[in-house]
Amino acid sequence: MVKSIMGSHNLLYPILGFASCLVFLYLSFGDFLSVNYKTDPKLSFVERNGTNFIVDGKLFYINGWNSYWFMDHAVHDYSRPRIREMLQAAAKMGLTVCRTWAFNDGDYNALQIAPGQFDERVFKALDYVIAESRQVGIRLLFSLVNNLQAYGGKTQYVKWAWDEGVGLSASNDSFFFDPSIRLYFKNYVKTILTRKNSITGVVYRDDPTIFGWELINEPRCITDASGDTLQDWIEEMSSFIKSIDRKHMLTIGLEGFYGPKSPKKDSVNPEFWAADLGADFIRNSAPSTIDFASVHIYPDHWFKKKSLEGKLKFVAKWMRSHIEDGDKVLKKPVMFTEFGLSDLNKGFNPSQRDQFYKTVYDVIYESAKKKGAGGGSFAWQYFVEGMEDYNDDFGIVPWKRASTYEIITKHTCELAKVHGRIESQNLKQLCSH
Ligand SMILES: *[C@@H]1O[C@H](CO)[C@@H](O)[C@H](O)[C@H]1NC(C)=O
Ligand SMILES: *[C@@H]1O[C@H](CO)[C@@H](O)[C@H](O)[C@H]1NC(C)=O
Repeated sequence: MVKSIMGSHNLLYPILGFASCLVFLYLSFGDFLSVNYKTDPKLSFVERNGTNFIVDGKLFYINGWNSYWFMDHAVHDYSRPRIREMLQAAAKMGLTVCRTWAFNDGDYNALQIAPGQFDERVFKALDYVIAESRQVGIRLLFSLVNNLQAYGGKTQYVKWAWDEGVGLSASNDSFFFDPSIRLYFKNYVKTILTRKNSITGVVYRDDPTIFGWELINEPRCITDASGDTLQDWIEEMSSFIKSIDRKHMLTIGLEGFYGPKSPKKDSVNPEFWAADLGADFIRNSAPSTIDFASVHIYPDHWFKKKSLEGKLKFVAKWMRSHIEDGDKVLKKPVMFTEFGLSDLNKGFNPSQRDQFYKTVYDVIYESAKKKGAGGGSFAWQYFVEGMEDYNDDFGIVPWKRASTYEIITKHTCELAKVHGRIESQNLKQLCSH
């Protein structure tokens, strides 16, 4: 069929010639980019100076967000463009860091299929996420395992150990104390840190596109409320990471609750249960191997009966308390790595979420102006259009609602001005009005 068309229309030859030339150009442009990745002078490592982050000797602000789905959606051709779409939109909004999962243990599209066994196809998807982020100058905060069951988590590790006949216990918390499982996790972490990116050629531990590592999303160890088990795990794993990678920032992934011995357990924790989860914000965040502290904000989960006004009042107090800890006790930055307001609440209206975002950003700005410890937050969570199936009751497409977009970008400009970082063309435009 192609032949007969070509026979009757000689014009097609030059068109085909032109098309193949385009293909060639595209390929060489791709080559050019992959060479350029390695020598891209724009990105330097984020470093820490006391309670602040700095890059190239200047303060570094974080107006960040969560898109946990990046690696998963980068596996298949049909969904891969969503990563670029999200990153480009975020860059336009002046966002600087995305927190996302660098794990998927034994689930659909798993990166780790079995202990120490990796799916190269999925690793290439993670390579792609990093390469795309680098292109737009956005950095990544990678979480390394889940305390919850989504994408495998602790439960999967415990099951693996059990199936291999080496597990000590069926308890999910044996993830923290079982020597075999600790070894599984260390092997996992080492493989990630020493991975050579198949697109950029840069080993992960040497890549400034990565802002930092997070040990575990929302750790709780309820079987040991004293907190000793989790503390021991944090100390061992953070030292292990530092023995391989001293260049990147490291955090834990805590929700931020104060433990049973903390004076703030009664005055600041949402309710009494929060002191009995085996975690303690201050003690856990104190080791020198932990570069910055992390806190989550979920007033809907924590309070069933409070009004929105009551919740927002709590949010401001919760944040100020942790920022004070960062400034006075820990002397490290404190990042609010997840904050979300559920749309399942009775009488929910998107303007309530606007108010919530604004409350969070106002407290961040208040601290940033004083060069305090509270210079950054990460909204939970952002999507692009056409991904409704992956949403939970917290996610938004940030450019779909003008008022929300305005609140987020205004925050970018507030932080950028404080830190004297309005030099880019994009920010000049964004922050001109
Ligand atoms: C690092 O912190 C010290 C003490 O707060 C300050 O004097 C110095 O200017 C900071 N350096 C940078 C590059 O921000
Ligand atoms: C471990 O956690 C999973 C998911 O939350 C739960 O279904 C399971 O019952 C837990 N196992 C034990 C032994 O508690």
